[in-house]
Amino acid sequence: MESLAWWQRGIVYQVYPRSFQDSNGDGVGDLRGIAARLDHLSALGVQALWLSPIQPSPMADFGYDVSDYRGIDPLFGTLDDFDHLLQHAHARGLKLILDFVPNHSSDRHPWFLDSCSGRHSAKRDWYIWRDPAPGGGVPNNWLSHFGGSAWEWDEASGQYYLHSFLKEQPDLNWRNPELRSAMLDVLRFWLDRGVDGFRVDVIWLMIKDDRFRDNPENPGWRPGMSSHDRLLDLYTGDLPEVHDIIAEMRRVVDGYGDRLLIGEIYLPVEKLVTYYGRDGGGAHLPFNFQLIRAPWTASEVARIIRDYEAALPAGAWPNWVLGNHDQPRIASRVGAAQARVAAMLLLTLRGTPTLYYGDEIGMTDVPIPPELVQDPAEKNQPGIGMGRDPQRTPMRWDETPGRGFSQAKPWLPMGQGGPSVAAQHNDPSGMLALHQSLIALRQGNAALFGGAIEAVEVHGDVLAFRRTSGAERVQVLLNMGEAQSVSVAAGRVLLSTLPDAPDRVAAGPLPLRAAEGLILRLD
Ligand code: GLC
Repeated sequence: MESLAWWQRGIVYQVYPRSFQDSNGDGVGDLRGIAARLDHLSALGVQALWLSPIQPSPMADFGYDVSDYRGIDPLFGTLDDFDHLLQHAHARGLKLILDFVPNHSSDRHPWFLDSCSGRHSAKRDWYIWRDPAPGGGVPNNWLSHFGGSAWEWDEASGQYYLHSFLKEQPDLNWRNPELRSAMLDVLRFWLDRGVDGFRVDVIWLMIKDDRFRDNPENPGWRPGMSSHDRLLDLYTGDLPEVHDIIAEMRRVVDGYGDRLLIGEIYLPVEKLVTYYGRDGGGAHLPFNFQLIRAPWTASEVARIIRDYEAALPAGAWPNWVLGNHDQPRIASRVGAAQARVAAMLLLTLRGTPTLYYGDEIGMTDVPIPPELVQDPAEKNQPGIGMGRDPQRTPMRWDETPGRGFSQAKPWLPMGQGGPSVAAQHNDPSGMLALHQSLIALRQGNAALFGGAIEAVEVHGDVLAFRRTSGAERVQVLLNMGEAQSVSVAAGRVLLSTLPDAPDRVAAGPLPLRAAEGLILRLD
């Protein structure tokens, strides 16, 4: 246990910088704001904060379109503000993880402007340019994740460029060695500044087929699904060569000692686990999003846990994610009662948990009226649920009109009612107190933070598993349905997701209330 790294031992907390804390009254969160809220993270007990992109960006995709990989967008502050935040985080023992967006830059990045200047530009090949198809039109059938073709015509040079997302997000060409080394230098720039790691955006998409073959149709596509999903990503994602790039990134990160490489990956579990890399030389943590899409039943979640654990390569450290800035919030997906059960699940599973800001107070998706929609994913394909604004609304700190987030009109509405940090501050039955208790319990218990997971079982609507380390044995029971009893070995209840839990010494049939989660220490 002593040998666990900080990112194995601790919890990652995702901050969406636009929505955490505004310090300069423009309705958008910023770095000084985040620095002013570090108390909250310390009190919660997390180990690291991961910031969604803060680099200069025209914000076509809210920072996931970077126009300078080595700066800070003025909206968020300056490099000095960044250093200040890093220093204050480190002084508290908090690690800081940056988002790294390598698949594409902004179309305003000087590299792309140069690349666009003509076919003979020294940076032409830093992006992916193709002639029209022999009969004219787009080079192949590849589709953008945000709707329409992935190819954009450039009249001046008579070629198309590839954009897997918006046309304002041209894909970088990782087959070009100069681009590759320039991007690895970006990692060094931030590592030299002291950052503790990176969450790498769409890491499985970084390399595309060098023969530009058409993607096959997706037989599973149905109306109402994203138009991108009409085709399978056979030639545009998860290509074998991507692992060489990730290994290079990993070598750079490892060169700085105890730093972390996380990969954003939406793939089935058997493919996901290949991102640990050969001999563990890939990402330390290929993000595991299975709980995000899981049907919320004991049997489904049990199956997911067993399959994931079985698929992990030797020595690979697991991780679990309940929510992020691209997905509906957990409290909206499963409801307030089950969100408490979900918190207990996330914080008792084996492996590093990632917590999305606001979920610790039970924030729900905020409905966004059509005229206030910001997200290009929604604007391009309205009405089919692609919009990500509802889960990106500002953090609710207190009960004042601006909810303690901003004095100005916030960039997204705060929504009516809803929880706040202040309202839950002294409420032992609140979601915040539950998170604090769960985290304190996890961090103080070797079986929970570092032990094995065993006996993953389903009893009616109850998911049960044990965490063990040496003589320490912890039983977790999560009731995803109505009241029922489960037979347990002798032990004592340490924590319930529900208030007024009797101080139960258990042995034999143990009654669980509806939507109750329990953690027991077994004798
Ligand atoms: C990732 C990000 C998402 C962004 C996309 C394109 O999936 O999480 O927010 O829109 O990449 O960069």
